[in-house]
Order: sequence, then C-alpha cells, then structure tokens
Amino acid sequence: MKLFCRIILAAAMFSTCAWAQPGPAAQAQQPWWKGALFYEIYPRSFGDSNGDGVGDLNGITQHLDHLQQLGVDAIWITPMYPSPQVDFGYDIADYQAIDPQYGTLADFDRLLSTAHQKHIKVLLDMVLNHTSDKHPWFVASAASRNNPKADWYVWNDGVDAHAPGVTPFQQRYVHDGKVPPNNWESVFGGSAWQWVPARHQFYYHRFYAQQPDLNWRNPVVEQAMFAAIRFWLDRGVDGFRLDAISTLFEDPKLHDDPQLPGTNDQGDPNLRSQYSDNLPEVHDVLRRMRAMVQSYPGDRVLIGETYTPTVAELQKWYGRQHDELQLPMDTQPGFGDGANFSASWFRRALQDSQQIQGEPLIVFDNHDNTRSIDRFGDGQHNLARAKVIAAVLLTTRASALTYYGAPIGMTTATPTRKDDVRDPIGITGWPKEKGRDGERTPMQWTPGFQAGFSSAKTTWLPVNPNYPDVNVQTELAQPDSLLNWYRQLIALRKSEPALHDGAMQFLDNGNAKVLVFRRQGPEPVTVAMNFSDAGQPLSAAIAPGAVSTLASTAPELAHASSLHGVSLPPYAVWVFKPAAHPAAPGTP
Ligand code: GLC
Repeated sequence: MKLFCRIILAAAMFSTCAWAQPGPAAQAQQPWWKGALFYEIYPRSFGDSNGDGVGDLNGITQHLDHLQQLGVDAIWITPMYPSPQVDFGYDIADYQAIDPQYGTLADFDRLLSTAHQKHIKVLLDMVLNHTSDKHPWFVASAASRNNPKADWYVWNDGVDAHAPGVTPFQQRYVHDGKVPPNNWESVFGGSAWQWVPARHQFYYHRFYAQQPDLNWRNPVVEQAMFAAIRFWLDRGVDGFRLDAISTLFEDPKLHDDPQLPGTNDQGDPNLRSQYSDNLPEVHDVLRRMRAMVQSYPGDRVLIGETYTPTVAELQKWYGRQHDELQLPMDTQPGFGDGANFSASWFRRALQDSQQIQGEPLIVFDNHDNTRSIDRFGDGQHNLARAKVIAAVLLTTRASALTYYGAPIGMTTATPTRKDDVRDPIGITGWPKEKGRDGERTPMQWTPGFQAGFSSAKTTWLPVNPNYPDVNVQTELAQPDSLLNWYRQLIALRKSEPALHDGAMQFLDNGNAKVLVFRRQGPEPVTVAMNFSDAGQPLSAAIAPGAVSTLASTAPELAHASSLHGVSLPPYAVWVFKPAAHPAAPGTP
C-alpha cells in the first residue's frame, strides 16, 4: 500500500485525545447525507471541455447526466482554486477563486446550479493546514520578521548545527551554521523545515516545501480560513471534505518525533508523528467550524480525511457531543489489499464500523492510493473481486464514497519510466515510491479518441491503454459489466428501505469464505458474498422459507427461490429478501 495510509495511520495510533461516547442523537428527520453516495472527482481528469488536455469545470457539468443516472447523491471536487499545481491543487494560492485552467467563477456557479437541478449536492475540498508558497499571505510572511503576516506561518530560528541532540538527519540541512529545530519530516520526503534567507529562519511544511503550514495558534488565521469557507457556503456549496485535518497543530515545544527502525520509501528515518500530528487542539477548531457551517440551512456537511487505525480513534472526529465532523472517513474496510480479501477480514472491519456512534462513511478509493481493484485483486479475478467490493461499499449500513473510474473498474496505470512521472513524490522517491499518477489518469468515457475525455493530442496524464474495453459507453451496453452492477446496487440502495438504514445483523459468523449479513427492516434484505474462488454452500438456516432475488452477479441465482441446495459460485454476490406471499387463489 502507498505511503499515505501508512504515515497517517502511524501518527493516529499515538494520539493523546480523550473522548466519551455520546448518547444516541435524536434525529427527527434524516439529513440528506445519511446513507448518501458521494463521488469524488479529480477535476484535471474528469472531462476536458476546451481541448487543452486538462479536465475543467465545464467538463464536469457536461457529465452530470451520467452521475445522475448512476444515482450519485453528491460530488466532492478536489481543489480547483488558483494554484501553482505543485501538488495538483492542494497548494492553494487563492481560496476564493477558480484556477483559470479549470474555468471561471461563472462556470462554477453553473456547475453548482446544474448539479442542484439534478438533485446532486456539491462538496469542495478545503485545505486548511497549508497554503501555496505563492499565496500572498506567505509571500508577505516570508519577506521579513515584522510584517503584519509575520506570524501566519510556523517560523523558527533553528538550532546550532553542533548543538547536543542534533541528529545526522538534521545536519543534512545546514544554513549559516543553523539546522532545523527538530527531526520532523515532510510526509513527502526530507526535513519538514525550509530555510528562508530573508528571515534567516526556517518555516515548517508537513507536505511539500511549496506548502507552508499555517499557524493555527494565531486566531487571525482561523478568521481568514473561516472567511474562505463562508465564501463558498454563501455561493451555495453543500459541504466540504477537509484535507489533512489531523495536521493543523504541532507541538509548540517542538519535541522530536520518536524514531522507529528503518527508513521510508524516500530514504528518511521512520518516525512516529507523535508531536506533529493529531494534537487535541484541532477539535476546538472543528467545533467552531461545525457551528458556523451549521448556521447555514440545508444540512451542510463536513467530511474529514481521517486515516485512523481503530474505530475508537475515528470516533473522536465526530466530537464528544456530535459537534465536529458528521462524516469522518472510515478507511478501515476499504484500504486493505489482496491479503485482506476474505470474509473474516471484512466481517471484522464492518462489525467495527457498525460500532461507530454516528454515521460511518466507507471509502475504498481516492486520488492518493492504488485503486482498490488492483489492491484487492489477485491478478486473475480482479473484476469479480471488484464486484464483491462494490457490494460491500453499497450494501453496508453507512454513507458511501466512491472515486471516479471505480464504478467502471479503471485500473492503476503507474508510470513505468521516471521521466513520465508528474507527481513530485514519484520523482524524489523513484523507484520505491512511484507517486500517485497511476490512480489519477483521465476518466474513460468511450472507446473513441482519448477515451472521450479530451480532443487534445496529448493529455496531462496518458489515458490508460485499457480504455477500449474499460469505459462508460461500452459497459453500459454490457448487462453484466461492473458499471451495470454498480447501477443495480445503487438503485436497490434507494428502493429497498432496509438498505437505507436497517441495522446490520451478521450471520454465519464462523465462515471465513462467505460473508452474510441481513439488513433489518419490515422487509429484511440479506446479502451473501463469496470471497473465494470455489463454490460455497449457504446454510438454509440463514433464510428459512422462500426468497426472491433482488440482485446477483451469478445468473444461476437470479431465479433461486430458497436456500436449499444453493451453492454460491466463486466470488458471487447474492442479494435477496423473503418472497412475497403468493396471493391466495380467488383474491383480486
Ligand atoms: C491530502 C490530499 C493529498 C495531498 C495532501 C496535502 O492527503 O489527499 O492529495 O497531497 O493532503 O495537501
């Protein structure tokens, strides 16, 4: 698995926050986001309306019909603000505008209103931890030690290069006899401290050096960022995905992070981010932010990028009084790999999610990690396994988050030559870390030129060569395609009340190969999934009596009417409910 989960998980494991279980929230009416299907869009790669090889906002608007037909309730658009694009938008130079390569504010307003007409909510990505080094705030801050923005970022004088306790790692970064004040590392490699001659000081950057961390201990920074949030709420956006939210604060005493054995893919010592991540102060900010967001009508929602190792850690992000994030991401079921592809592993992960006090948000894919079809694949049955994954995502009691391309089975196209890499960590970490380009390739719409993504001869990343088979148009015409399986499950999720919010009862719990659960309701729905490559019997005790199939990946189960003698074919998913009682003869 890629660096992302690993580093962020290591940090979260050692958090010191405390939390208490809240009582059940009394919800007279369900907010729209409960049980909703969210769809992440990477704007560079979704639709290119102007033929420059890079996706744009109008390209998203053009494809909203597809999303509506798929049954998506909300889209989350990764950053489309003006940016030097060092981290492809996660380095923001202006929080209240649109990057010209993606369009204009008028394009954004049209995207928003068209989405709303189609009953699709729109969420933006809010990057609160850092700005671009080209943001006017940082340019001003870096100019001198006594300007009005001097304290907007995390500055430090550094320490003498030969001071006691200075590590060899710090000594790699000497400037005028000074080295960084501690051993903190950037997630993207190297020291997290960058020297600025004009101030004769270092600034802190958890991510790229072009992404300086804001100083959230300065209340004026919070005011400025909250103003940016309001700007978009006032325009009508329905919520935000909060980027890297656990990293807003650092230890003011700058203690060294504890060192672990070995080195990471960038060749740096492994650390546990005990003092540079997951500090309790972030929860105070989130409570104030939630109160502000909630002052707007329409159940606006806050999603968090929260990689946590346990549900106890995840629970903290909801807030003690359910007053922080409504939907921190539960990455536990979704960010495993082939070794985890078993009924026992998923049963355990889903049982954990069901312990959450609050609405779980399940996610398998995003723009930072190898696509799940590859991670959970065995090279032979990847598509069949992807159908099982789709069933886990879409039939569990939870809100669900998918990523563009996942419903058609787009695969990870990792560059094979260093010269082709666009993501900077793939250049600095090559060949161990090849970066995140592979999961960001252009959306595959048709079997035609550039997969229907763009009319340009060259696109910002090449289209995956498998597009003639893996694309929306072709898959819509194939009844048993992955896309049609997604469509079927999404439609069922809406039409079957038990699949909305019915509690999950896990059945046949000792079975390592078959996962079975029943979603409770007046008409309970049972889901059975075979995680093995051999047929598996189902116990008739799971559903005594007659059943009727709602959906199945196996044609032979389409007309099964009871569990007697049923064998679940390899990797089959079967969704069924008790058969309606046949009408008595003679009744109208
Ligand atoms: C988040 C984003 C990732 C980005 C990083 C820094 O983890 O998902 O793409 O590089 O934050 O903003």
